[in-house]
Amino acid sequence: MRIGILTVSDRASHGVYEDRGGPAIRACLTEFLSCEWQPHAMVIPDEQEQIEATLKAMCDDEGCCLIVTTGGTGPAKRDVTPEATEAVCEKLLPGFGELMRQVSLKSVPTAILSRQTAGIRGKTLIVNLPGKPTAIRECLLAVMPAIPYCVDLIG
Ligand code: MTE
Repeated sequence: MRIGILTVSDRASHGVYEDRGGPAIRACLTEFLSCEWQPHAMVIPDEQEQIEATLKAMCDDEGCCLIVTTGGTGPAKRDVTPEATEAVCEKLLPGFGELMRQVSLKSVPTAILSRQTAGIRGKTLIVNLPGKPTAIRECLLAVMPAIPYCVDLIG
C-alpha cells in the first residue's frame, strides 16, 4: 500500500526552512495505521498547476490509495491547495474539513482560516491538512477513524 505525503510550501521547497510537516504526517500514519505501507513523499511550491500534476501522478501513476497534503489551505493569495484538490477530484468529502476545523477551533481560534478539504480521485482519497506541524496530529487524529474505511469503500 502506497501513501502520498505532499508538503506544499514555497519556503520549504526552496530550502528556506526544513520541511517538518511531511515527517509529522509520516510519524502520525506510522502510529495509527496497522497495515504495511510505503511513503511517497514530495515537497513542492504553492503553484496550482504543479500541485494538480503531483496529485494526479501520485493517484494515477504511483497508485497511492491515500494522499495527505500539508500547507496552502489558508486565505493568502498563494494558498491554492484546496483548489488543486477540488480540480483533480471527482467527488468531494466536505465532512473531513468540517470535522478538522471543528476540532482545531477548540485550541486555535484561527483554525477558521483553513479551507482544508478532502476528496476522491479514482481509488485515491486525498486529505488536506494545514501547514502548521502542530496542526497535523490534531487534524489527522480527528479523521483517522474514517480513513481506512473510506479507502476500503473506494478501492
Ligand atoms: N489548525 C490547527 N489545528 N492548528 C493551527 O495552528 N493554523 C491556522 C489554520 N488551522 C492552525 C490550524 C492558520 S493560522 C491558518 S492561516 C490556516 O490553518 C491555514 O494554514 P496553511 O495555509 O498553512 O494551510
